[in-house]
Amino acid sequence: MFDWLMGKKRAKVLSLQDQNQLPMANIQVDGHGTCTWQHERSVLDVLDKAGLPVRSSCRSGNCGACVAYLLDGEVGYTKEINFPLESGEILMCSCLPNGTIRVGLLSQPVSPRRRRR
Ligand code: FES
Repeated sequence: MFDWLMGKKRAKVLSLQDQNQLPMANIQVDGHGTCTWQHERSVLDVLDKAGLPVRSSCRSGNCGACVAYLLDGEVGYTKEINFPLESGEILMCSCLPNGTIRVGLLSQPVSPRRRRR
């Protein structure tokens, strides 16, 4: 679900119709078990609801507080995001799983310097 353009990874934005057609999916969180996405607003909402230790702030794709690693599977975004992701990273507040995914939570928050880019 990602396009490669001039060496930069662009997030695939799903249409509302595509979002509504996504099937329920498992979200495996390394070291924390598995949750099921049942059309909640985002991956972050599912993990929050399950009581997992996830960071968040803006919940709109701008601050980077919810960055995690996508270790397996595919995600799509509900809108354009402004935060500069590096390879293998996702913004959990703004994406939905396209089938089963496996994510790794960061042990440290993303550098504040990177957030200011
Ligand atoms: S909570 Fe700010 S980008 Fe996800």
